[in-house]
Amino acid sequence: MKNILLIDDEQDMLDSLHKLLSRKPQYKLSMTTDGKRALELVASKKYDLIITDLKMNEVSGMDILQKALNTFPDSTVIMISGYGTIDTSVKAMREGAFDFIEKPFTSKKLFDTVNRAFSQNMDKATLSEKGLSQKKDSFGIIYQSKQMEELLNLVRKIASGNMNILVTGESGTGKELIARAIHKLSKRSLNPFVPVNCGALPENLFESELFGHERGAFTGAIKTKPGLLEFADHGTFFLDEIGDLSLAMQIKLLRMLEERKIRRVGGQKEISIDVRIIAATNKDLKKAVAEKQFREDLFYRLNAMEINILPLRERPDDILPIAKHFLAEFCCQNEGAMIRFSPEAEKALKNHPWNGNVRELQNMVNRAFYLCSNSVIQRTDLPIPMERENAFFEDDIINLSYKNAKESLLEKFEVEYLTHHIKQNAGNISRTAESCGLDRRSIHRLINKYNIIYEE
Ligand SMILES: Nc1ncnc2c1ncn2[C@@H]1O[C@H](COP(=O)(O)OP(=O)(O)OP(=O)(O)O)[C@@H](O)[C@H]1O
Ligand SMILES: [Mg+2]
Repeated sequence: MKNILLIDDEQDMLDSLHKLLSRKPQYKLSMTTDGKRALELVASKKYDLIITDLKMNEVSGMDILQKALNTFPDSTVIMISGYGTIDTSVKAMREGAFDFIEKPFTSKKLFDTVNRAFSQNMDKATLSEKGLSQKKDSFGIIYQSKQMEELLNLVRKIASGNMNILVTGESGTGKELIARAIHKLSKRSLNPFVPVNCGALPENLFESELFGHERGAFTGAIKTKPGLLEFADHGTFFLDEIGDLSLAMQIKLLRMLEERKIRRVGGQKEISIDVRIIAATNKDLKKAVAEKQFREDLFYRLNAMEINILPLRERPDDILPIAKHFLAEFCCQNEGAMIRFSPEAEKALKNHPWNGNVRELQNMVNRAFYLCSNSVIQRTDLPIPMERENAFFEDDIINLSYKNAKESLLEKFEVEYLTHHIKQNAGNISRTAESCGLDRRSIHRLINKYNIIYEE
């Protein structure tokens, strides 16, 4: 049973909402036209969903939203906004409303939004059940695929131990993100996580960077300098792009791993080091071993356990959640702009092969964010070739039977057309009829056919 509270100062509106939503027996509906009473209600108990009109006489939808969020911070509030109040609706979303529905709207739009609100709540609930609340505990790793869930389960199991871990995966799949998650989940989390990019480190600096040097050890060594491994003591040392390490460096690293001790360049003293090593590579290290480019003994030292991150195209369920996450981030960074993807854009994102994985996706979303001309990122804002896609038919309409395809398109047309004209005429049916070139009866017939809710 879901407890839903409906708030609107106009009884008619409330009745329409009630009539529609009461079709679902699992919804337990309460409603009020009294703003003050509404404030008391939202503060007295947590509703599963609150649907409120934005503009009311005594108390505004914003007041309701604030009251609800102050008392129960994870309240879900949907705003219903009238003609020409989009600015305030956007503000409401910034303040924490789940979404807004603009009048006029169809019953389908209402149910879609309500369903989305409930499935979001479910996501939150299941995530926190698993100790993985999206924001706090999943270390910024956004996912929805089974594969990623399994990988994170594995990560959680092995993180607390001390074994060295090799993270493999194509470029941009999130290897560093996973390495950091392992560190944060481990007993070493309060000590440093020190990353080193083996590919970017010149061979002659490798030793002094990792092990440090004593003053005067070589020209330019004017001061004694501890190495990065000393910084990482009791923490995690992340060797990124390990496949780029030269054979000479591999030997030095191996010795350190075996003895768990280092000696600074030019120094005598042995210093004990306690670090867990996580290495990462997008290369095929086994092949490098076979080709004698990588030492087999070092490979086995580093690879007590392998975590392989699948390319994004092999876990397509992650694409949209990650894309939406990046989009929301860009929106936040840009004064809370409110931008979403059009359904065609979402479809194109889902079908793209993403050879550059999450990083490519991030760059593309960033680009589209700045290119899109209004609040919707269109298919054409994405630099993805149009091949094999049909621009006219969305989704799978083209694969339906002739009759169903035609009905589906007709329905879309009628709803879009009519809601546009109702809005243009601020809910005045006579004027709407006139601007559509139809009589009032036909307009009412269509309004009933699609349960369009409007306000005069
Ligand atoms: N599941 C995810 N959710 C959110 N962000 C992600 C996810 N996976 C990767 N990212 C982001 O994508 C970018 C690339 O990730 P990361 O640097 O960890 O990849 P990588 O595998 O180390 O790539 P490379 O091999 O190129 O070094 C980062 O900005 C990272 O935060
Ligand atoms: Mg990396």
